[in-house]
Amino acid sequence: MIMKKVYHKAFIIGSRKRGRWMKYSDLPGTDERVSVIGLGTWVFGGENWGGADNDAAVAVVKEAIGLGVNFIDTAPFYTDGVSEELIGKGIAGKRDKVFIATKCGLVRENGRIVHDLTPGSLERELELSLKRLQCDVIDLYQTHWPDPNVEIERTMEVLLKFQGQKKIKHIGLCNVGLDLLKKAIKAAPVRTVQVQYSLLERGIEKELLPFCVAQKIGVIAYGVMGGGILTGKYKVQPQFTRRDARKMFYSFYEGEKFTQTNRFIKGLSSYGRPLNELALNWCRQQQGVVVALAGCRDVEQLRMNAGAASWDLSVDEISRLKQMEGA
Ligand SMILES: NC(=O)c1ccc[n+]([C@@H]2O[C@H](COP(=O)([O-])OP(=O)(O)OC[C@H]3O[C@@H](n4cnc5c(N)ncnc54)[C@H](OP(=O)(O)O)[C@@H]3O)[C@@H](O)[C@H]2O)c1
Repeated sequence: MIMKKVYHKAFIIGSRKRGRWMKYSDLPGTDERVSVIGLGTWVFGGENWGGADNDAAVAVVKEAIGLGVNFIDTAPFYTDGVSEELIGKGIAGKRDKVFIATKCGLVRENGRIVHDLTPGSLERELELSLKRLQCDVIDLYQTHWPDPNVEIERTMEVLLKFQGQKKIKHIGLCNVGLDLLKKAIKAAPVRTVQVQYSLLERGIEKELLPFCVAQKIGVIAYGVMGGGILTGKYKVQPQFTRRDARKMFYSFYEGEKFTQTNRFIKGLSSYGRPLNELALNWCRQQQGVVVALAGCRDVEQLRMNAGAASWDLSVDEISRLKQMEGA
């Protein structure tokens, strides 16, 4: 089944200039083809990642295009629009080579981050994103988190209006549960669901992933390297500041959980593959996953992560990995 997905849905092109290969998924319900490894850009601007270099971020975007990584994920929340601005710079003159996915619904209010999917806020956010990205249209517009105060049908109505105005091409949802997704797809064509999915976090396998497969909704996976820990880089417990993503968002870096996670990662070394590539390929080869996002702070990380697309795990390797006790 898994092999069928990989070979049936993806095709291969060569990027001979840099001697690397990229694979592409068909985005269900559309005529779009997106790279199986997508560029994650939460790190751009560095707000939640212990700082980051802006020139390096622009270089990452340019290199991604050269490597055939066309799927670029961002959000206004990422360093308060800086991530979108840096992508705008990186794609200048190359808009037709990339598929831009950004988000809406997390806004800053007097220094606080609040959920806001009201129509007025969506209108404001979309215009700002288009400006920062220097684009006329966004390929995939995703709600970042549900807003408990706004009916999903109301939000979908506004996104459909944006589609009619040709300001966005496709609609996606992030971080939704099954009930909300069921409501949303009755109101508008939802092409993608973006959620955390990795060797360390497999919660979606029970309900959400099978539902997306059945409904032909593409899953975009984030946190595929657990925020970096799945690369095996942390031999001793790191110390992050309060607002660092690895302290406030990912759960693998504290106390006993860190020890358990590292024990699990040690078990992965028997596969004889670079751990970042193992983590990315395990995820992207699951049925229903169309893009495995890889957050990259510099060109070196990007090249390492894009390299995962040049090989596949065997069916046997995938099933052995599936049976490993998670952290
Ligand atoms: N929709 C949502 O709510 C949501 C939530 C989270 C993420 N996302 C999206 O998903 C993307 C990916 O997730 P993520 O960035 O949070 O986590 P991730 O991809 O699991 O980890 C990314 C981090 O790992 C480190 N890293 C990456 N490649 C490496 C390599 N080859 N070797 C060593 N270290 C490496 C880098 O951080 P250091 O250099 O600091 O170690 C990088 O910022 C995000 O960038 C964002 O676009 C969306």
